[in-house]
Amino acid sequence: MLFGKKDTVGLDIGSNQIKLVQLKETKGGHRLERLGIAVIQPELIVDGSILDAAHVVDALKELISNTDIKAKAATLSVSGHSSVIIKRVSLPQMTEDELDEQIIFEAEQYIPFDIEDVSLDFQILGLAEEDNMMDVLIVAVKKDKINEYATVVRDAGLTPVVVDIDAFALENMYELNYEVKEGENIALVNIGASMININILKGGISVFTRDSSVGGNLLTEALQREFTISYANAEKLKHGEPVEGVAKEDVSAVLDASFEEIIAEVSRSFDYFRDTTNYENIDEIILSGGMALTGAFASMLSDRSGVNVSVASPLKNIDVPDTFDREYLDKVEPVIAVAVGLAMRRVGDK
Ligand SMILES: Nc1ncnc2c1ncn2[C@@H]1O[C@H](COP(=O)(O)OP(=O)(O)OP(=O)(O)O)[C@@H](O)[C@H]1O
Ligand SMILES: [Mg+2]
Repeated sequence: MLFGKKDTVGLDIGSNQIKLVQLKETKGGHRLERLGIAVIQPELIVDGSILDAAHVVDALKELISNTDIKAKAATLSVSGHSSVIIKRVSLPQMTEDELDEQIIFEAEQYIPFDIEDVSLDFQILGLAEEDNMMDVLIVAVKKDKINEYATVVRDAGLTPVVVDIDAFALENMYELNYEVKEGENIALVNIGASMININILKGGISVFTRDSSVGGNLLTEALQREFTISYANAEKLKHGEPVEGVAKEDVSAVLDASFEEIIAEVSRSFDYFRDTTNYENIDEIILSGGMALTGAFASMLSDRSGVNVSVASPLKNIDVPDTFDREYLDKVEPVIAVAVGLAMRRVGDK
């Protein structure tokens, strides 16, 4: 094997911040080895597209150096409805090898992109309700998107060894840290600056995924418009820091209006989920991403959806050495949910 099994970093390249997590497998589980977060300038990555690769590479190199990363291998992820398609379909029963040979043909009718342009993967989920059929999860990712992200990672000196999907990384994070609840529907909801990733688990098995292009940038833009302030000052307000000439009460009103917009989008996904599952309810929301840290968003989401919301604790079952600043970790934990999920993946994983 080319790379040591232990030395893979999980790298979540978000449009607002890059998150880097390295775990070590121990006898009892996992230990945190490295953690780094770097806020990047706006407009380097827009709607999941890397517009300014050179600056992203610089930020990545600096983060790798500051975090003292020695590992060379990285697991990264992509997401977004315009480049990732995840479909659950019923296919005639066949072996994994047979499906491997036929996947292009089978996938073609379900994937709205040119089949030549995507990288395909699948997972056989089990027997379908119909005779002689089986349920299969098909995942198609635009090769362009993979190349775009893999190139910046390579240019920053790491070797991409696994390319994952945000929604699946969240699921891995969940499996590591939470007890599966039989018969319950748990919605993993990750809301960053420009994207919402949702993965709904039924008894621990993913039954629904959806990405939407909405996120915390809505808040930043609304604050900039309302108070005629810079991007940097709007970000300060979101973090609860004061900005001259802007009253705290006025900030809440603007934030609340943007919260409603984001919650409407989450609700839309939940409606789709209900439509595809005989109107089942969601029992709990596990919220991650920067929006989990933004003011009263989590409690408003709970109020509006009528579902209990817990903020994700991706480090719950990870041994954290005393050398880490616990107070800092408590503050940032929800934003590293995807990166932790990625850090659990290993070279040679599918
Ligand atoms: N402590 C905080 N308080 C308030 N808002 C925060 C805090 N930390 C991050 N945010 C906001 O959360 C967003 C960043 O979250 P996150 O790191 O999950 O996004 P990302 O992964 O970079 O973006 P993308 O949506 O493109 O994946 C930004 O909009 C930022 O302003
Ligand atoms: Mg993100």
